[in-house]
Amino acid sequence: MVQTAKRIFDYKDLPYICLIFMNTNFKRYLVTAALPYANGPVHIGHLAGCYLPADIYVRYLKATGKDVLYICGSDEHGVPITIKAKKEGITPQQVVDKYDGIMKNAFKEFGIDFTYYGRTSSITHHDTAQDFFRTLFDKGVFKEEITKQYYDEEAKQFLADRYITGTCPRCGNPNAYGDQCEKCGTALSPTDLINPKSALSGAAPVLKETKNWFLPMGEIQQSKDFQNYIKRFDDWKSNIKGQCNSWLTEGLQSRAMTRDLDWGVPVPIEGADGKVLYVWFDAPIGYISATKEYLNKQNEADTWTKWWQDDETALIHFIGKDNIVFHAIIFPMMLMTHGKFTLPSNVPANEFLNLEGDKISTSRNWAVWLHEYLIDFPDKQDELRYVLTSIAPETKDSEFTWKDYQTRVNSELVSIFGNFVNRVLVLSDKYYGGLIPTIAGELTDERLIAARNLCMDQVAKSIDMMQKNLESIKLRDAQADFINIARAGNKYLADTEPWKLIKTDEESVKHILFDALQICAKLAVAAQPFLPHTTENLLGMLNTQDKNWSLLQNETILNSGHQLGKASILYKQIEDEDIAKQLLRLEEIKKANSQEPIAKGITEKKADITYEDFEKLDLRVGKVIEAEKVPKADKLLKLVVDLGYEQRTILSGIAEYYKPEELVGKLVTVVANLAPKKIRGIESQGMLLMAGNDFGKLYSVGPDQEIEPGSAVK
Ligand code: 2FM
Ligand code: ZN
Repeated sequence: MVQTAKRIFDYKDLPYICLIFMNTNFKRYLVTAALPYANGPVHIGHLAGCYLPADIYVRYLKATGKDVLYICGSDEHGVPITIKAKKEGITPQQVVDKYDGIMKNAFKEFGIDFTYYGRTSSITHHDTAQDFFRTLFDKGVFKEEITKQYYDEEAKQFLADRYITGTCPRCGNPNAYGDQCEKCGTALSPTDLINPKSALSGAAPVLKETKNWFLPMGEIQQSKDFQNYIKRFDDWKSNIKGQCNSWLTEGLQSRAMTRDLDWGVPVPIEGADGKVLYVWFDAPIGYISATKEYLNKQNEADTWTKWWQDDETALIHFIGKDNIVFHAIIFPMMLMTHGKFTLPSNVPANEFLNLEGDKISTSRNWAVWLHEYLIDFPDKQDELRYVLTSIAPETKDSEFTWKDYQTRVNSELVSIFGNFVNRVLVLSDKYYGGLIPTIAGELTDERLIAARNLCMDQVAKSIDMMQKNLESIKLRDAQADFINIARAGNKYLADTEPWKLIKTDEESVKHILFDALQICAKLAVAAQPFLPHTTENLLGMLNTQDKNWSLLQNETILNSGHQLGKASILYKQIEDEDIAKQLLRLEEIKKANSQEPIAKGITEKKADITYEDFEKLDLRVGKVIEAEKVPKADKLLKLVVDLGYEQRTILSGIAEYYKPEELVGKLVTVVANLAPKKIRGIESQGMLLMAGNDFGKLYSVGPDQEIEPGSAVK
């Protein structure tokens, strides 16, 4: 409590707030949230990453009377879609049709109020993206190059982007994609990866020549326009500034804007048969095409340019940190080289949200899915919005835990906000039949005056701070300021105890409840960016519709004699058993995940052995000097292996995996003290160590450097 009271008066972060983006001097706001891939349902990480923060900001702008569009839509191209289709055994079109609906519905349930939610499979989008490409092509922006690209000989396909994985050359993440490392955010090309592997077959890919069109990012980086544009980074959040500056310092590389794939927007020029636009070329254009589609439907088709090609429009891209390079560098380069477009005013990128100590992961089902949350908490959308904003990963990764969810809902929404509103409305109903009391004169009791002044001062300062934080897109702090308004109201009631005072001083109680009702009305207005369902409930209880942001500056919002509506409980407690159920679900997922290796074909684990057991093995490096098939035994090879001090004949069941000639000269590991055994009439004098799984892979295990045969393996 003490800390909170201090926080209300704490203006020390003002200089910092003023440094970052302030929403002034723009005629209109075009807010976008990253188009999600239509390849799965939406989870809390998505919501907290960009859709919820953008929604809060947009709701705030709208409440202040600004001209705003909030644009989003399904990203329906790219490898994530085709990989999902392969996994589910359906076509890419069926994948996007299925998930587009599921995602749209989840967003709607949580009050994510897009002006328009488009799809990149739409005709408008294909036309817009192709026109854009053609313009850049005609202007000679692209460099046409024949390069060697990875190719999967088994799948007979080029391996673009996420079709290829390997180790990130920058941070060592072994699961980096061919277009990006999600761990360190670096934009990659497949050939940058160390130990590349096809995501289709697991095989090592080969390099094959193909023609593609490249955006010469290194050249554009040197241009005056780009150098002018990047001055904006200074006003942006430090995580974006930091990432962008580090790429710029390293120097940008050309990047292919076309791909040899069969799913996507066809490349609209001659000689590009069988090629599609790079998904990161077409997806951000989705913001433009969705705007056009929306305005077409409003019969205002011609007005799209005022949103996209007018410097009085603020273009603000809300994204997650893995999308920074595409929104802060590549898309602006596309817009800039096209020539007519407005560049982003701000790119507020959030870091990642973790869940119960682990990274949220779709493939491991380690997530809180919005559609599942709604089954267990059908009327608690605002509660989730509130918690996700309280822990928003605005400056660093943050963590969602169910226990914390319960604590925040119960001790903040229920005990502070809900409790305040309920006490005020119940007392007003009891004392004045639900009418706002009429007050005459001023409070006279010094103690009551002091409590009132303190409360009003705190309310005014919280509103002021909230407003500044909303302007600078510090939404986590803004919501804390909002709760401080209710906190101040609660303290006013606790300091003045109108339920006791009513017995001795009815006039003063009228003053207190009049004030408290005005605070309730302010809370209804101030809640709207964060808790839209609550705002509607509370407005109903107060029997008013007016929620214009400017009301927050009024001393009186609801006049004496105004009839209030029916009071009801704003928030209910989250019970321990609700949380236990969620934790149990996660526990089961963890258990299922720990069995996952077996499902992946990894041979079942064996019981532990002691070091003494291990020491009994005499493992030696051997060199294969002869190898031949064993007649009438499909699986067996007969090897002669040099152990340095002697030569051994060893029979090994690897004929399906190795041709004899592939083995000659190879260093292998031999179990040298395995008792000899006769197989097909030949004595096998040892065994070769092989790495294998239950899906039929088998590779010999040997030293990774040249070493003398006979060396001990220990
Ligand atoms: O990372 C993603 O989920 C991408 N689909 C985001 C695209 S944002 C934009 F460019 F459309
Ligand atoms: Zn990395």
